[in-house]
Amino acid sequence: MTTSLGGQNFTAPRLSVPRSLASPNTLRQTFSSLFKALVWAAIALCAGPVSAQKSPRFADDMAERTRACTACHGEQGRAGPDGYYPRLAGKPAGYLHNQLRNFAQGRRHYDLMARLVDPLTDAYLGEMAQYFANLQLPYPAPTANNAITPERLAKGQQLVTQGDAARGLPACTQCHGVRLTGVQPNVPGLLGLPLDYLNAQLGAWQTAQRRAHAPDCMAEIVKRMPAQDLIAVSSWLARQPLPGDTRPAERPQAGPALPDALRCGSAPELSATAAKPLNGGKP
Ligand code: HEC
Ligand code: HEC
Repeated sequence: MTTSLGGQNFTAPRLSVPRSLASPNTLRQTFSSLFKALVWAAIALCAGPVSAQKSPRFADDMAERTRACTACHGEQGRAGPDGYYPRLAGKPAGYLHNQLRNFAQGRRHYDLMARLVDPLTDAYLGEMAQYFANLQLPYPAPTANNAITPERLAKGQQLVTQGDAARGLPACTQCHGVRLTGVQPNVPGLLGLPLDYLNAQLGAWQTAQRRAHAPDCMAEIVKRMPAQDLIAVSSWLARQPLPGDTRPAERPQAGPALPDALRCGSAPELSATAAKPLNGGKP
């Protein structure tokens, strides 16, 4: 799967193998042992809820049961080393749960992972989401160094923090939080994500390869932005250090109400809160 953003192509994640290992034979061996590890881990994953009755100590150990996940998503879900496998740790639980549903129900696509989550119950997807959401790990320093002029970066910052009223574009901070660390329980943060991942996600929304629960506000937002603005925005985001407190905000910030066309099916609380009078309804 390849998505395109501003003339740049982003290919869907591949399993990366160090070049020194990449002879056909070792490649085959690497894939076959990774596959075996995934199968075993998947069995542990599916066996989790059942063994809960027999062996509480094993069942309590979500770290053990999610080894199938951390094989790709990095130890404790801190992200894979190459920018393809996204971080799970510390993202809001509702957001992670919605993504697992999106993969299981075909609104996001990554076959190897969809096959793992398909047989699991919705309640179990929720438990895994909660487990990863509770892991607070330090974020790596930002690394983006793609070629972009200071003017375009400034444009990116302006769009993120102020939006553009002329084209009905709210600031990204209005939904993703003033500190851009996300908002509980359903909105992810936008800092600490690799540039490639940000570009791939925005590009996937443009081509409808990624969708969220309807109404899909992010689809509407990328429609209002030409590719060069998306790149300006992702380039700026991927250069920002994280604030000291990386936890998502507890509630959406007060601000102008979101227009109806920008309601988010996956985060209905954004509209509910914004629509309240700014004095909180007090006389
Ligand atoms: C074979 C590798 C692989 C395995 C195994 C895997 N994932 Fe993923 N996962 C991915 C990739 C790649 C993406 C990003 C796909 C995309 O670009 O949309 C992803 C995305 C996600 C996301 C969305 C993250 C976000 O910030 O939007 C969640 C949540 C997730 N995975 C959870 C899990 C869980 C839980 C498991 C174990 C049951 C798991 N994954 C197993 C590769 C994997
Ligand atoms: C109207 C509210 C709203 C606004 C404004 C908004 N977003 Fe979002 N965004 C969301 C919601 C809700 C999600 C979660 C969607 C889902 O459940 O898949 C999201 C998800 C994302 C993701 C996926 C993150 C990940 O970890 O995979 C990216 C990237 C993103 N938004 C970028 C932006 C950028 C850049 C802007 C500003 C140009 C912006 N958003 C403005 C509501 C908004």
